[in-house]
Amino acid sequence: MILACRRLRFPLFIGGVLSLFAAFSLNSQAQSTADLNSIQQTKVMLGDARLTSGIPGQGPLTVADISTWLMKAENHVSLDVELPMGLDAGSLQIVGLTENPLTRAKVELGRQLYFDTRLSSDNTISCASCHHPDEGYGRRTQFGIGVKGQQGGRNSPISYNRILSGLQFWDGRAASLEEQAKGPIANPTEMGNTHEKAIETLKSVPGYVQQFNTVFGAKGMTIDTAAQAIASFERCLVTAPSPYDYAEQMKRFEKLTPADINELKTDDVEFYETYQQALVDAKRFPMSESAKRGRELFFSVRVNCSACHVGANLTDEKYHNLGVGIDKATPDEGRFAITKDRKDWGAFKTPTIRNVASSAPYMHDGSLKTLEDVVEHYNKGGVPNKNLSDKIKKLDLKNHEKTELVEFMKACTGSFPKVETARLPQWFGRGMRPSWVSTAAGRVLPCFSARPPDVTHLDDAWFTKRGDENPAELSRCQSRRGQIFVDTFSIDFCCNMLEEASETCY
Ligand code: HEC
Ligand code: HEC
Repeated sequence: MILACRRLRFPLFIGGVLSLFAAFSLNSQAQSTADLNSIQQTKVMLGDARLTSGIPGQGPLTVADISTWLMKAENHVSLDVELPMGLDAGSLQIVGLTENPLTRAKVELGRQLYFDTRLSSDNTISCASCHHPDEGYGRRTQFGIGVKGQQGGRNSPISYNRILSGLQFWDGRAASLEEQAKGPIANPTEMGNTHEKAIETLKSVPGYVQQFNTVFGAKGMTIDTAAQAIASFERCLVTAPSPYDYAEQMKRFEKLTPADINELKTDDVEFYETYQQALVDAKRFPMSESAKRGRELFFSVRVNCSACHVGANLTDEKYHNLGVGIDKATPDEGRFAITKDRKDWGAFKTPTIRNVASSAPYMHDGSLKTLEDVVEHYNKGGVPNKNLSDKIKKLDLKNHEKTELVEFMKACTGSFPKVETARLPQWFGRGMRPSWVSTAAGRVLPCFSARPPDVTHLDDAWFTKRGDENPAELSRCQSRRGQIFVDTFSIDFCCNMLEEASETCY
């Protein structure tokens, strides 16, 4: 009997314990046996919540919390990653780790930055504002909404499974995740900041200074190291196995006869256990009959979604013109704007189908509200135009087939890792301690008790100047000026604070 190639369910942990100890001349007294064991685990399964659930504890991160965390050698060990079942078929496709190795400390720093609105010009927008875990790491708005409610012209794509993706953006204009992460910070309609100001703000947060110095050594805090940290966090956002993956896994065992299985019990106990586990998984995360038929259609020659949605992450990472939004007066030229190659006109990067049910609306322009609408778009053969992909043609799907395709896509949903969204470094603002105020709108804002002597830019002349530019802001802010100190933030933030802060702020 020939058995399919065996895959170990549990990775072996290989670790260079001794060399690590030499590398970290940290308080060796503090190294407990527990630490020693975890240092050996240089191999991690991405999606493991311990990578993304934040520094242990609750509330804003204090300098003491951060110091304790940074002291642990295990948090600085370069991690060797494994992908969850399903996605693991793409292991050879992993990008970015050689240039930017993962460590727990770097991932955690990236997590903080990802959820920190202080990267934006007015402290209102973080990466998560447009790529939120509760909304499938996208946003349920047609376009991304940035500072001052501004809208861009494209839908927020998802920010998970990026470890399998090279070029970023709908048009692939960023060469890496690192390069991508710098974009929104300085984009006027997104976070509306400059890289310099963003870094200046982060430098007023001692917990950040401390982490950047430890994680990046001499390089310290720059926009590039910030981007490396954010990219590292994103690389840990991967989708867990979905009903589709469990069903695929069962296919390995399809050819086994009852006699084979009986034989396995004694001949190959490990393989038998793998088989038993696969049975349990497939039962626990079942794929409906309708979804199974949808799977066949998706990969069939006739419907051929897999001409482009293929591989572990169900995308070819290439650019195609489906005619989405092409009938507008000035259509988005997509990839063409970057390459100037005629075949790229109106072409956009194929998005993943994994967890796609959680990130409506769809397409680069967010023009299709549901998966049913998407299937309808393909069914009619896209929107004809001079550059329509030759892989797009009328499908003449029956109604039940449309439902089945949608059911299949829903069956490609696996869980996301647990992610801490709130625990961020406390802000002392040039040595001053703010009180943290919960506002009626449910936001937590820093309030400084007094203006420090070295700050003069909030004096009368400054208020008058700003008031000339915007009289409404002046009248709102004047009533309380001097009592709240706003350091690196704009007047808008000051006003938001005055409006939202309760009387107990001082
Ligand atoms: C105002 C909303 C908004 C904010 C804030 C924002 N993004 Fe995006 N993001 C978008 C939009 C819209 C796109 C697609 C833009 C395009 O393709 O031209 C995008 C694209 C991306 C992509 C590319 C995904 C792919 O499939 O190619 C990643 C990754 C990403 N953003 C991560 C981030 C990170 C990290 C931050 C914070 C530093 C961030 N975003 C901030 C809206 C936003
Ligand atoms: C020629 C390549 C190609 C084929 C074939 C194809 N797709 Fe796509 N798919 C894409 C591209 C490219 C986009 C993004 C297009 C855009 O935004 O303009 C996309 C977008 C999608 C989206 C929206 C995802 C999101 O996050 O916005 C879904 C869902 C989808 N396709 C499902 C399917 C299904 C189902 C089929 C088969 C009926 C199919 N695709 C066939 C390339 C393809």
